[in-house]
Amino acid sequence: MKLNRLPVAHAVAAAMTLLLLVHAAVADKYTEAFSKVPWQEFPGGRFKASTNATLSASTIAGALFQLKPGGLRELHWHDVAEWAVVIDGACMGTATDESKLHPSDTWNFTAGDLWYFPANVPHSIVGLGPSGCTYITGYNAPDFNELTSFSASSWLATVPLATLAQALGISTAAAQRILDGNAGGKPSFIPQGSLRQMLAQAPSLPVQFPKLIHRYPLLQNTHEVVNADGSYVNMADVTRFPVATDMSGAIVRIAPGGMRQLHWHLNFDEWQFVINGTLEVGVFTEPGQSAGGVLQPGDLGFAPRGSGHYLRNIGQQMAHVVLIFNAGLFTNVDVGNFLGTVPPAYVAASLNISDAAAREIDYSLGGFAPAQLPPSQ
Ligand SMILES: *[C@@H]1O[C@H](CO)[C@@H](O)[C@H](O)[C@H]1NC(C)=O
Ligand SMILES: *[C@@H]1O[C@H](CO)[C@@H](O)[C@H](O)[C@H]1NC(C)=O
Ligand SMILES: *[C@@H]1O[C@H](CO)[C@@H](O)[C@H](O)[C@H]1NC(C)=O
Ligand SMILES: *[C@@H]1O[C@H](CO)[C@@H](O)[C@H](O)[C@H]1NC(C)=O
Repeated sequence: MKLNRLPVAHAVAAAMTLLLLVHAAVADKYTEAFSKVPWQEFPGGRFKASTNATLSASTIAGALFQLKPGGLRELHWHDVAEWAVVIDGACMGTATDESKLHPSDTWNFTAGDLWYFPANVPHSIVGLGPSGCTYITGYNAPDFNELTSFSASSWLATVPLATLAQALGISTAAAQRILDGNAGGKPSFIPQGSLRQMLAQAPSLPVQFPKLIHRYPLLQNTHEVVNADGSYVNMADVTRFPVATDMSGAIVRIAPGGMRQLHWHLNFDEWQFVINGTLEVGVFTEPGQSAGGVLQPGDLGFAPRGSGHYLRNIGQQMAHVVLIFNAGLFTNVDVGNFLGTVPPAYVAASLNISDAAAREIDYSLGGFAPAQLPPSQ
């Protein structure tokens, strides 16, 4: 009897799991428990990625990298733009312009610095000492995965021996070693190099052309909006970071109990990565419906252009979130602009409330709404 009951119990459990999964899949179109996604390990570091296969509403893909000191995200390029911010540690990045007139752009990045690489600009990143580097990237395509990007090793391994020797001006024996070392075109992705050697050979800061600077010290800049409760936003768009024509982004800090106000964007979708804190998020998806849930550190959220959304800190500590947008120019409509710029009578009629109730709304809250005081006795 026991033997019979077991499969039934399993079947019921499996059906319930399936129901839960189906429910979760629908509810989680706009959020992803990315913190629970396992890492993929490489000699020089580790990596995990999110695409619309796991965050299905998203038009933006992204990845989290941790490079060891001397860990190299090898020379590579891709047909989508890349916007990234360093969360922890330090790394050195190089980007090579299409023209030999300009030197390759080499910069060091520490926490709060961002880089932007236009589509198909070749680049590489090295983790620096003492602890390497953690960074989060976003790409302006829903299904882009760095694992499939073009890289130096994966291309050269496909070139015929004599052709490769000719192209690099080396002997066929030397070319054969390149082919043998990269057999099958398998990208090395994050090989481990010698940090000491890499630093010894790193270029000193080259002459910079403003158009070509791929680094922006996001957190070193004055906060864009500061609220009395200590919430702030630091934003970098094309008006201050000219190279980033197709993507922009921000770091937002939200005080405990505070919220990034109900708002939407005219011209871009928003991809969210929680550095720390616990947040309630909501995305208005269609008349009468919102999606969302709770994001923990390391989790992802998404809000399409034009869809109203918010981030509310429901934890006890300051929350920090990286926001990545798939347009160079920042635009924003907060609920205060939207409701506060028409006569209260319009608000009253729209929301089916009295004129007096419409006048009670605080239209001046701006980008953040502070924690509400508990109701007075
Ligand atoms: C992901 O995006 C690609 C490119 O737009 C699209 O072809 C594919 O159907 C999308 N996948 C999902 C699961 O939405
Ligand atoms: C980057 O940092 C390393 C290690 O501190 C240093 O050796 C190197 O000169 C720096 N490079 C630039 C371009 O500032
Ligand atoms: C949360 O993240 C921010 C930004 O990276 C950092 O400055 C802060 O120290 C972190 N807070 C905690 C408690 O780890
Ligand atoms: C307006 O609100 C009242 C209740 O306050 C409700 O009875 C009425 O149906 C609402 N009107 C519309 C058009 O929804």
